[in-house]
Amino acid sequence: MDLSEALAQHKAAWHKRYPESARQHQAATEVLPGGNTRSVLYYDPFPLVMASGQGSHLRDVDGNDYLDFLGEFTAGVYGHSHPVIHQAITDALQGGINLTGHTLLEVQLAREIRRRLPSMEQIRFTNSGTEANLMAIALAKVHTHRSHILVFQGAYHGGLYGFAKGPSPVNVPHPTVLARYNDISSVEEAFAQHQDIAAVLVEPMQGAGGCIPAQPQFLQAVAELAREHGALLIFDEVMTSRLSPGGRQSELKIQPDLTTVGKYLGGGLSFGAFGGRANIMRRFDPREPDALPHAGTFNNNVLSMAAGYAGLSQVFTPQVCIDLNARGNHLRQAVNSRFRESGLPLVFSGLGSLMNLHAMSEPPQSVADLPPHNGPVRDLFFFHMIETGHYMARRGFVVLSLPLTDTDIESFVAATDSFIERYGALLPQS
Ligand SMILES: Cc1ncc(COP(=O)(O)O)c(C=O)c1O
Repeated sequence: MDLSEALAQHKAAWHKRYPESARQHQAATEVLPGGNTRSVLYYDPFPLVMASGQGSHLRDVDGNDYLDFLGEFTAGVYGHSHPVIHQAITDALQGGINLTGHTLLEVQLAREIRRRLPSMEQIRFTNSGTEANLMAIALAKVHTHRSHILVFQGAYHGGLYGFAKGPSPVNVPHPTVLARYNDISSVEEAFAQHQDIAAVLVEPMQGAGGCIPAQPQFLQAVAELAREHGALLIFDEVMTSRLSPGGRQSELKIQPDLTTVGKYLGGGLSFGAFGGRANIMRRFDPREPDALPHAGTFNNNVLSMAAGYAGLSQVFTPQVCIDLNARGNHLRQAVNSRFRESGLPLVFSGLGSLMNLHAMSEPPQSVADLPPHNGPVRDLFFFHMIETGHYMARRGFVVLSLPLTDTDIESFVAATDSFIERYGALLPQS
């Protein structure tokens, strides 16, 4: 058997193993193109349809149980049924939804976020990380009176501003300069060639790009170049803010001009926010004659505000955040040492509780390093992990959430061992 035969076997078995998911997906295609309303969730032959979640467990519509090692692509840090989050949402519901006015909750959450990320001196809420980035970009352009945004190959700043394989065709049409991640000479070149760069927008670790951390000295140099050239530095911490109590920026000791966040900071509900230096954010002060508009019916919706505040203030305390990321480091080291010992060119890259599998021996420094055979190897790992009851992303993304126990994490390591035993001989060698 070779790799493609092993994959074909899994795909054939998929239809037999998940008949109700197949039926539900087929039915969904009548009203949703491809049965899908969120591209990342689709994979062939058809995606699993989930019925319910409890703690760190998911159940699909065929009645199969999984340990959730994906955690809603980092938004689900609290798991599926945390009592504090439930209580906060219940209390907010009892207070009435759609109050059509300011409430106390938005101020509480803003204060809590600023306590964690002090560079976010003033904050505005949005409904998603995508929107937060689009607002931050627009603000940077107005503030600097410049037109271009410098971003990095492989970056993902949301559904309307992504650069996985060059610019996405649905991107908003901001004039954009693309540089290479972890390559400071490409940033120097970009600044030399373009005088009109309003902002550098950068993920401290490229998340969707494959959990590729920026080298600290690279980000330091980017920060200095931005300052020298009068461009704003925007950190997209939509994923990375959970890597330490003060976000990745506190670990790097870099103070961006603006920061965008989202995901788990809304307690698991729809959420985004952008913020930064008060003298920049003041452009949104509606009392000012030159105020910029920033609309959004649900920007301060009481459910996200309440769940986000309860989660941050009562559950995801600084120590809990540190512990979760230490457990992530432990998991990544455990599986990587298995790969190394077995001589297989496989590696999980990442930081703390976020990681991504690659079919290579050393973690990539940029998307240009990713091997051409990444896809099939990651597919095989995915099928094996799903079969053994460990839910993760098809692209190799693995995320820890708080309710995962040490036993759950050991179970993931054991499933990695069984993957190596079962398929090690089929994998391309380095
Ligand atoms: C770094 C980064 N920025 C922005 C976004 C977009 O956030 P949302 O999906 O809430 O629009 C994501 C989502 O995965 C992300 O990882």
